Amino acid sequence: MTALQHVKLGTYYVVNLPEPDDFDLWRERARALVQCDVPPDRIAWVAPGGNADLFSHGERRMPVPPADASEVRANKRFVSLSKNGILHSDPERFALLYRLLWRLQANGRLMEDKADPEIRRLEELDKNVRRDSHKMHAFVRFRLVEDEEGAEHYVAWFEPEHHILRANAGFFVRRFANMRWSILTPAGSLHWDGERVTEGPPAQRGDAPGGDPMEDLWRSYYASIFNPARLKIGAMLKEMPRKYWKNMPEAALIPELIAGAQKRESTMVDAGSLDMGERPETLEAIDKAIHACRQCPIGNLDNHAVMGEGPQDYGKGFSGLMIVGEQPGDQEDQAGRPFVGPAGQLLDRHLERAGIERRAAYVTNAVKHFKFVQRGKRRLHQSPAAKEIDTCRWWVESERQIVQPSLVLAMGASAARAMLGKTVSISKARGTPIPLADGSELWVTAHPSYLLRLDGAAQEEQARLFDADLAAVKERLTELAG
Ligand code: URA
Repeated sequence: MTALQHVKLGTYYVVNLPEPDDFDLWRERARALVQCDVPPDRIAWVAPGGNADLFSHGERRMPVPPADASEVRANKRFVSLSKNGILHSDPERFALLYRLLWRLQANGRLMEDKADPEIRRLEELDKNVRRDSHKMHAFVRFRLVEDEEGAEHYVAWFEPEHHILRANAGFFVRRFANMRWSILTPAGSLHWDGERVTEGPPAQRGDAPGGDPMEDLWRSYYASIFNPARLKIGAMLKEMPRKYWKNMPEAALIPELIAGAQKRESTMVDAGSLDMGERPETLEAIDKAIHACRQCPIGNLDNHAVMGEGPQDYGKGFSGLMIVGEQPGDQEDQAGRPFVGPAGQLLDRHLERAGIERRAAYVTNAVKHFKFVQRGKRRLHQSPAAKEIDTCRWWVESERQIVQPSLVLAMGASAARAMLGKTVSISKARGTPIPLADGSELWVTAHPSYLLRLDGAAQEEQARLFDADLAAVKERLTELAG
């Protein structure tokens, strides 16, 4: 009997997927089923842990598509959302993906339908998985142990919510290429020996070691970045759910820091640093809030807030790069967009030379309003004070948390201060990445308007250094994209 006869007879197919995260195998099976015209309600997708016996009447041999079967249509957006969606722990995910693939054959523009409940569900799966990966990048904490030969080995325990372990191997290999490490989880483990990744069986918390001196470093780092004026317990729990605390040495400090927060907050308010409220959860909310922000005197000048711009979603053309400048200038203030004036045009030329696509980066500023003094008809740029940058850090940090770049390029001292909370020397900091607490990295370089103020040999020299910094950023972005 041919596959098409099977289908006509109402054959029910049982598709076994030996791995819960194997997109390629799902795709291969789904293509064949579509080409054999098998409707979604005639398929049971069975992944590990699923009960294949429930479908004992089903056909386990895959149908073979006829030689003249037409090509299966699947657009980029479907593939990119599905690659993440398949990592979700929802057992219904394979069937959902198949239903969408089935519908895509009849409607090539299906993925544009924002109101479609199945598309919305797929977007939700994608979002949950990205969030879980982000948490893994941020909250995996390695403990140092010695193996039998006395060699150093770093071991971490992590409990992901979805099947993200294998998909994130590349991230940890790139970030910790020079360490030998293992990440243990209840669903499996990963080991890196400096050359190869191997997979191991599920582990238990007790298989991972307890504390070590690295933790002191994390603790003091965390205490130094903890901002009592920003303390909103609900928001903190959302960002750093309690279940991760036990693996994170710095979390031991949380009760103590909360207890001391009120006292520190009143000191900060005295010192001029104010509570900005709940952290906004969308870029639209930040945009709205910065227009109303009067936390420092710059917002009271005759100007407009300028929001960052660019994609924020890896599946939708985001390269993972966030570029931070100082503050909008006169032209940016009028256009309501960052980096459109002379410094922006110079930046564009250098980015192009380095092969960095500005459209694929999120571009923003440390300070959201233009600070100036009026001289006749002209508005002359004034640098923001450290206190003003520190107040505005709230917004750029909120943007960063939403955009989740893998690499931040801070241009100039104000941008570097906004990202680090302290002043650094550009000449010392440039060229070497600075790790940020969420696992992303900060690269520091000069501001393009510094180049505009120079001429002759000095300008040539600074342009050369700027190009070298951008070339290094481009190389690193390529590496991070794996
Ligand atoms: N300089 C900046 O720092 N940002 C802009 O948006 C424009 C000029």
